[in-house]
Order: sequence, then C-alpha cells, then structure tokens
Amino acid sequence: MLKTCIKGTGSYFPPRVVPNKFFESIVYTSDEWITTRTGIRERRFIDNGLAFSDLALPAARAALDMAGLPAEAVELIVVGTSTGDMISPASACILQKKLGAPRAVAFDVSAGCSGWVYSLQVAQKFVQDGSHQCALVLGGEVLSNRIDYQDRTTCVVFGDGAGAVVVGPCNGSDDGEILSTHLHADGELWDLLYLPGGSANPPSREMVEARMLYVKMQGNEVFKQAVRSLSAVALEALEHNGLTPDEIDWFIPHQANIRIMEEVARRLEIPIEKVIITVDRYGNTSAGTIPTSLDEAVRDGRIKRGDLVLVNTFGAGFTWGASLFRF
Ligand code: COA
Repeated sequence: MLKTCIKGTGSYFPPRVVPNKFFESIVYTSDEWITTRTGIRERRFIDNGLAFSDLALPAARAALDMAGLPAEAVELIVVGTSTGDMISPASACILQKKLGAPRAVAFDVSAGCSGWVYSLQVAQKFVQDGSHQCALVLGGEVLSNRIDYQDRTTCVVFGDGAGAVVVGPCNGSDDGEILSTHLHADGELWDLLYLPGGSANPPSREMVEARMLYVKMQGNEVFKQAVRSLSAVALEALEHNGLTPDEIDWFIPHQANIRIMEEVARRLEIPIEKVIITVDRYGNTSAGTIPTSLDEAVRDGRIKRGDLVLVNTFGAGFTWGASLFRF
C-alpha cells in the first residue's frame, strides 16, 4: 500500500456576513445567548441563485494551486455534502465539469457533518492502492436555505462554506503522511438530527406546510453524544498510532459549538492554544468545518509542513470519525 499525503488545501466562504443580530428580528433570541451558548458571532450565507458547487469550485482551485497541479491531473473527486446542488447528479460531477477535470471519477458521500472525514478515507483507499494519483476531497454545505427560520435552536448555528484538499501518494521526505482515519456510525439515533426531503418525504404541499424542508435537531441530545463520540474517536486515533495528546501540534475539532470543542479538548488534555477555532466566524458548516479550518491554519502559517494534526468529526447518522496526519 502506498503512503498518502495532503498536497494542498483550499476553502471558500460566500462574502455575505450574517451577524447574530440578524436573528434577533426573526426569532426570540439574542446575540448574547448565541455567543455564550455556541461561540458563534457570525456566519456566511450564499446569495440567491448560487449553489454548493459555486463554493466548491474556488475551494478546489485553491487546493490544486497549492499542490501545483492542473485540474486535468485530477483522477478522483469525492465530495462530502448533504446539501449538494441537486439530489442527483452528484455535486462531484457538476464540479468535475466546472473545474475541467474530465478524467476524474466523481461521486458524493453522504455522512452529515462527518462527510469530509468519510470522503478522505474513501479517497485515501483509491490512492493507496495505486489506481488513482490525484484525488480532490471536498466537504461543505449550503445550509442557509435548509434551516428553519422559525426554529431558534437550529437557525442560529449553521453556515455555508466549502473546503478542499488534494490527496496523492507521498513522493519524498518533505511530504507529510496521512497516518490513519477511523470511522463510526450508529443509525439507532438518526432521528436526533436529520434533513428530510428524500423519498420518505417527497415534494408535496403537505411536506412544505409541515416545514419538512428543514434541518431537524434535538440540540442538547446531539451535544451530549457529540462530546462522548468526539473524545473517544480522537483517543482511538492517537492510541492506534502509539501517540499521546501532548505529541499533537494542532487539533481541529468539528466546529459545531465552542462548548463541545472546549470540553473535548479538556478531556484529551490538549491545551486550547493548539485548537484551531473558526466556529466564531463561520458557524457550523457541517462537512465543511474541518477542511476550511485546516486551510485557514495552513495559509496563516500556524500549521506547517511536518506538523502533526488531529481532526475529529461528528454528525447526522450519527456518524463520527477522526484522522491523524503529518501535514
Ligand atoms: N436563543 C435563545 N434561547 C434558545 C435558543 C436561542 N437561539 N435556542 C434554544 N434556546 C433555549 C431553549 O428553548 C431552552 O429554553 P427552555 O429552558 O425555556 O426550554 C434553553 O435555551 C436551553 O435549550 P438547550 O437546547 O438545552 O440549549 P443548549 O445550551 O443545548 O444549546 C444548541 C442549544 C443547539 C446550541 C446546542 O445544544 C448545540 O450546539 N448542540 C449540538 C449541535 C451540533 O453539534 N449539531 C450538529 C452536529 S454536528
């Protein structure tokens, strides 16, 4: 099996900044409540007429640019998203066309907020067996038109954005290495967090009137499960590689709520200075939180080549996972 590494990162957020104050006029909430209970100060929403692939395209181009590779070199596109442009075809195929990557095999992975970590593992298998040299792995969402602006527990937490990485075989000692990725799922608890609108709830007037177009979440139950699973899977990744938390250079937890992130870091005994935090500016972009946070920290110089990075994720399904890599 070939060793694999991350050759480039990219991200894109739509320019429209939506501060907490925006929600004060539509639901009974306050900037103070949102900031204190979630750590979110603002998020980005797309403008009408745009779709997920419009966020994915600049993220993909930036990642390829960092990797020094042209779009024509891409052999595989895996997109983790639950809010693609359409139910079918996959957003990966729409992106393949927009990007100009005609050789690429392209498909989406639906694993809620864990979509990017799941996609990373899938892509890594294609690269490890030598069949594909250049894989684009994306994660992101357009949640602004899938949140219920009458439900104060969900509408304040989500945002739009997309991130990308290029995965390929390690060529030299300067390259990092993806050490391992660990995935889990528990379908028993799917109804604590879901986005209806598939074959169980086909389009109808009743469906629209019942507000079945929007994310449904039992936030406090999800919170407890997230803390437990995110801590356990991070430890699993560390133990698998014979590492202890103090050996980690950077920790990128799923950016859903600052209180979840702080509690998981506390349980792992990772100091907060090593935690990459973007939830304050972008909210929860679901499958987008990890690749966008990784890209920010790489581009601002915090994460350097050779650094040991731990990421973990938790989302609808439930699904959860962690990945450990030397950047
Ligand atoms: N503004 C003001 N009050 C709000 C509110 C808001 N936006 N949202 C909820 N509340 C109220 C509730 O109605 C409740 O009021 P009550 O006590 O009168 O019934 C009270 O705050 C506590 O509600 P609770 O749901 O327990 O709040 P919380 O502290 O758990 O925060 C979330 C809610 C959604 C922010 C939090 O549970 C969370 O972040 N959950 C995990 C989200 C997540 O990880 N989701 C995706 C998985 S990736």
